[in-house]
Amino acid sequence: MLKFGMIGVGKICQGCHLPAYDKLEKTEDVKIVAICDINKERLDEVGKKYPDARLYSDYREMIDKEKLDAVDICTPNNIHSEAAVYALNKGLHVMCEKPDAVSVAEAEKMKEAAEKSGKTLMVMRNNRYRPSTKFLKQYIAEGKMGEIYAGRCGWIRRRGIPGWGGWFTDKKQAGGGPLIDLGVHIIDLSMYLMGNAKPVTVSGSTYLKFPHTSYSPIDVEDLAMGFIRFDNGACLQIEFSWASNIAEDQMFVELRGTKSGSKMSGIDRKFEIYTEECGVNTLIKPDIDDYRGMQHHEGNIRHFVDVINGKAEPDFTPEQGLNMVKILEALYKSAELGHEIELN
Ligand SMILES: NC(=O)c1ccc[n+]([C@@H]2O[C@H](COP(=O)([O-])OP(=O)(O)OC[C@H]3O[C@@H](n4cnc5c(N)ncnc54)[C@H](O)[C@@H]3O)[C@@H](O)[C@H]2O)c1
Repeated sequence: MLKFGMIGVGKICQGCHLPAYDKLEKTEDVKIVAICDINKERLDEVGKKYPDARLYSDYREMIDKEKLDAVDICTPNNIHSEAAVYALNKGLHVMCEKPDAVSVAEAEKMKEAAEKSGKTLMVMRNNRYRPSTKFLKQYIAEGKMGEIYAGRCGWIRRRGIPGWGGWFTDKKQAGGGPLIDLGVHIIDLSMYLMGNAKPVTVSGSTYLKFPHTSYSPIDVEDLAMGFIRFDNGACLQIEFSWASNIAEDQMFVELRGTKSGSKMSGIDRKFEIYTEECGVNTLIKPDIDDYRGMQHHEGNIRHFVDVINGKAEPDFTPEQGLNMVKILEALYKSAELGHEIELN
């Protein structure tokens, strides 16, 4: 039986992680034996649902006292790296919410700790487990898209600044705004489908234009636009916003291949492939129900458990995590300096 400790049991943990473990407990011999949160009220409330689990307000104490196999980290972003490194150094497997870390230095520490310990470090990439992603990944693997040479992706909300005045809008705790919050999901999804080529240069611009006052301060961007070039010549155009004066919310990954193009859009659950059959432009609409429920988080957690149990090779590598944080950090730097940045 794999013994799990939960670190940070707020919205995403209660909404997506705990329900996944509840299902896994019945089938895979996984058990939540300890829970940690610095919010005592929340800890007690969640603790009631897990009467056998011991409760902690300090994750270090939890890791030191319990004989855990793994931890699942769902804290604000600035705690991800320190908690992951602590757990890996104590010989535990780590599942961590996105974004991997708030700086390249922190992401490097996570990768090093994972390599040194030989334990599995997996950062949540739930969109890889959407039915449309699985379909498209196979479609691409079968060569039906040809060479994918360019992409466009984005997640643009008309109004949707999360937890205004809380940690999401505080640079120290969140690391950034929609670029780090939403970008990590969709840039990863695009890169995963494009074959995870090495990013070589980025260029970005960020804006904080939505009204905020000293009572509801924000020191992160509300819009980020940018461009990423890869070592295989491919490029990715990006756009992420929590608040923009646009017609409607959008979330999309659009890929251009030499044989077909594709567009997945999350908000309206549309997924289409544009190709040519018998000399005629052809639209393929795979019959996939893509966005109902949160089953993609569960898919990622199941994969983590399968990897620990030696039943699967990891779909996510700490190297991919580091590349992601390098892209995000360089986009912010590019926005600040006003020119393109080379990645090493
Ligand atoms: N994958 C997704 O789809 C998705 C969606 C939403 C949020 N997230 C990520 O999940 C993480 C949590 O987001 P949320 O919306 O659940 O936030 P939240 O504020 O609702 O929950 C965070 C919890 O962590 C606790 N916490 C803070 N510091 C702690 C510490 N040092 N030790 C233990 N607990 C601590 C807080 O008290 C709180 O209960 C963030 O990193 C966010 O980016 C991912």
